[in-house]
Amino acid sequence: MNEIVLVAASKFGLEALVKREVQALGFADVQVSNGRIQFPAAVADIPRLNVWLRFADRVQVLVGEFEAVSFDALFEQTKALPWEVWIPANGRFPVTAKTVKSQLQSGRSCQAIVKKAIVERLKSHYHMVEFPETGPVFAVQVALYKNRATLTLDTSGVGLHKRGYRVEAGAAPLKETLAAALVQLSYWQPERILLDPMCGSGTILIEAAMMARNMAPGLKRQFAAEGWPVIPARAWETAREEARAAERPFPHPQLYGYDNDPAIIEIARQNAIRAGVAADIQFAVKPLDALWIDRQYGVMITNPPYGIRLADKQAVNQLYIILNKIFRKKKGWSVYVLTADRQFPKYFKRGRPDRVRKLYNGTIQVNYYQYFGQKPPRG
Ligand SMILES: C[S@@+](CC[C@H](N)C(=O)[O-])C[C@H]1O[C@@H](n2cnc3c(N)ncnc32)[C@H](O)[C@@H]1O
Repeated sequence: MNEIVLVAASKFGLEALVKREVQALGFADVQVSNGRIQFPAAVADIPRLNVWLRFADRVQVLVGEFEAVSFDALFEQTKALPWEVWIPANGRFPVTAKTVKSQLQSGRSCQAIVKKAIVERLKSHYHMVEFPETGPVFAVQVALYKNRATLTLDTSGVGLHKRGYRVEAGAAPLKETLAAALVQLSYWQPERILLDPMCGSGTILIEAAMMARNMAPGLKRQFAAEGWPVIPARAWETAREEARAAERPFPHPQLYGYDNDPAIIEIARQNAIRAGVAADIQFAVKPLDALWIDRQYGVMITNPPYGIRLADKQAVNQLYIILNKIFRKKKGWSVYVLTADRQFPKYFKRGRPDRVRKLYNGTIQVNYYQYFGQKPPRG
């Protein structure tokens, strides 16, 4: 029974991928707006979504939405929402607020008003005057956009990009959600070669192997809503059991990760072990200029370093020149490069990119340059 509305929060540019994965999990009436994928669901769906969503940042319960141009309106309408359905008497309910293009401009005041309104609501429900806030966490977010307030409860806790396999971050690791999206957007298939010649901590390849194995990304971690009385513990167990049962073998993996930094390759190996995909990926220390490709077809996805200082910029340009030398004539290779550097296409001269996708790496706007290769013959 669909009794609630859930929101899968996503990074800008990844909404279409998140919508598709939500639909693939069986949800209908999926609405998309900037960074939000909203759909009717049941309380018992919360575990399954957290365990399975690969490209989304978090899963939130939509508690209410209304117009609010005064603090009174914000207070009264927040108080009118059924918070007690979710928050038990010992629940912790920190409130964060953000406001954009709205009459109520002070996030801090909105946050205080919403907190007070929830306290008032819970007081009359539990007949208590003070709340110990020692129990499970119900992180409330109030977002005001053009005077419309949206109140959500976060079910995920730490962002869904934290799969739980990362031993230690490299210098500039990609978020796991973004790395998975790069693989999804590349049309790579598990029977094909996948190469990341500047793989850093190995995120792209690890995510690819997990996708090939149909491994649920959240299987190895905990979620905030695991402490919520409203969700039966059995629903979490079922979601995890189903995820374990859904894993597939990955018979002939051809995933290769290289980097010129031995320490980062060791981190990549440790990450792959923790993710349970170490057998799928061959990591090696190899500088880009020592890369030699003798296969006619393949997929290359990489995220080269981004030089800020001039000297670094020159070194990075040199890397583009090497990539160009290696792949210019390899028309059977699809080449995908994620970088904030708009100069990249000037150096990579295999023609104009077939597609350039605007994405965000954290807060940095980056481009995903896509050069499609010829498909290998079937057989
Ligand atoms: C932005 S990081 C890649 C991060 C990676 N996607 C991850 O998720 O951890 C760029 C990587 O390129 C590597 N690199 C820089 N110059 C290189 C070269 N000449 N040959 C191979 N790797 C190089 C760096 O050591 C660094 O790990």
